[in-house]
Amino acid sequence: MAKHARNSPKGRDVFKTPDHSASEHDAMAFRSPSEKNLRQLEAAHTWHPFAQMREFLSYPPLFIERAKGLHVYDTHGRRYLDANSSLWTNVHGHNDNALNAALIRQLKKAAHTTWLGLSHPPASELAAALIKEAPKKLARVFFSDNGAGAIEIAIKQSWQYWMQTGFSQKQEIIGLTHGYHGDTLLCMAAGDSGDFHGKFKKFFPPAWHCPRPENASAAQTRKSLGALERHLKAHAKKTACLVMEPLLQGSAGMYFHSPAFVRGVARLCRQYRVHLILDEVFTAFGRMGQVCVCKQLGVTPDFLCLAKGLGGGYLPIAATLTSEDIYEAFLGRLEDGNAFIHGHTFTANPLACAVALESLKKLKKLIAHGTLKARIKSFHKHFKAAFKNHPHVAAMRYGGLAAAVDLVPDAKRPHKKYPLGARAGLQVCLEARKRGLILRPLGDTLLFVPSPAMKPAQHAQLFKKTLAAIAAALDGKNKPFPDFYDYASCFKDHD
Ligand SMILES: Cc1ncc(COP(=O)(O)O)c(C=O)c1O
Repeated sequence: MAKHARNSPKGRDVFKTPDHSASEHDAMAFRSPSEKNLRQLEAAHTWHPFAQMREFLSYPPLFIERAKGLHVYDTHGRRYLDANSSLWTNVHGHNDNALNAALIRQLKKAAHTTWLGLSHPPASELAAALIKEAPKKLARVFFSDNGAGAIEIAIKQSWQYWMQTGFSQKQEIIGLTHGYHGDTLLCMAAGDSGDFHGKFKKFFPPAWHCPRPENASAAQTRKSLGALERHLKAHAKKTACLVMEPLLQGSAGMYFHSPAFVRGVARLCRQYRVHLILDEVFTAFGRMGQVCVCKQLGVTPDFLCLAKGLGGGYLPIAATLTSEDIYEAFLGRLEDGNAFIHGHTFTANPLACAVALESLKKLKKLIAHGTLKARIKSFHKHFKAAFKNHPHVAAMRYGGLAAAVDLVPDAKRPHKKYPLGARAGLQVCLEARKRGLILRPLGDTLLFVPSPAMKPAQHAQLFKKTLAAIAAALDGKNKPFPDFYDYASCFKDHD
């Protein structure tokens, strides 16, 4: 145990650590005394997002200590390819020299000064830079610090706009079935995450969910647009806004729809006077090959919501963009009570703005030089080659730098799923970790969300490791699946 701790790479050397094998990973697990301490702190004091903590604490823990490029390194110095882009945020790799320098430049000036009642240069510059990248009609930027916040702000601005222009009855929110827009109350209402948010349904404002197109086909596009138009004909007078992700529903499991659908929704929203809120929290900043999808499609929303990649994967920052028309409905004297009374303590944090500006500058070069396009092509090539005719893959979906496969016991019977208790997707991701790869499952769907910085050789590695992990978890000696690791007994074993 002590030998391993002494031998674990430290300092600069850590970046040269070769990928470890699955058996090396097992041998090194739970060896470091400091890791034992961290595990005790975790078990005693933490509560992780989206986690059933009893299960979470029973899995082998993974503490990430540092990151460089496309890799993250754990407390043993083991290296992992980050195929989750640190929850879909990373744009230029970790620990990027240019982003670091921008951050340090700002840090030497001020880490944080409030944007409530004051301003600072990086926020004004970032607002202008975002407007330049957005569709023409958008002219105003309201900053916040996470994706849910950006959506929540757009919905509140939409409601208040209608109240202040004589249409107080316009209150309903429209979303798409299976949509996900975050976990705050209005985002949960706009979304349709089934059991995920079901418990809170009774607290939601009125919402209707348009059946999403199941794919990008003309038939599915027509069907969904037809349903939306029927609903709007009957309910537009009481509808405030429609919230959707353009082109792809990410957290729903990477379900793609057609550009014609996005354009059709925009047309109907205009026709029936319903605000269109485009949630580009996931799709923007290179994910679909451009800074933002709506501009590429020639669609102008009333509100455009940005987060995740906006901060380059470094710091939390989000933005809600809207038009001058909407902004003007909030103007008046203070005593008119028309102002938008909403704000967060760390709104437009200067460090986050500085790093976002640098990240945007770098991304634009990546797009202009055709590098991003080539990387997307490589990602698709490797993805398709890996899963074509795979015995455990019932369906594969891909577009831009986003892809998913649905895992089943036998691809010849695609509707027969693994029992929930098998946690098949999770088991694959745990096996992937042993091979130096970070993936995040969505049930038994594996999601692939590489950073735009990921290069073709790393795409090849990503899918090679995934295939090995699938084989080990679904066909290997672990089959049928083991019971969950007993966290408490881990302590006993390694005391
Ligand atoms: C499309 C979309 N919208 C909103 C959100 C919520 O963002 P955040 O987690 O920053 O609140 C997410 C998060 O995954 C998302 O994918």
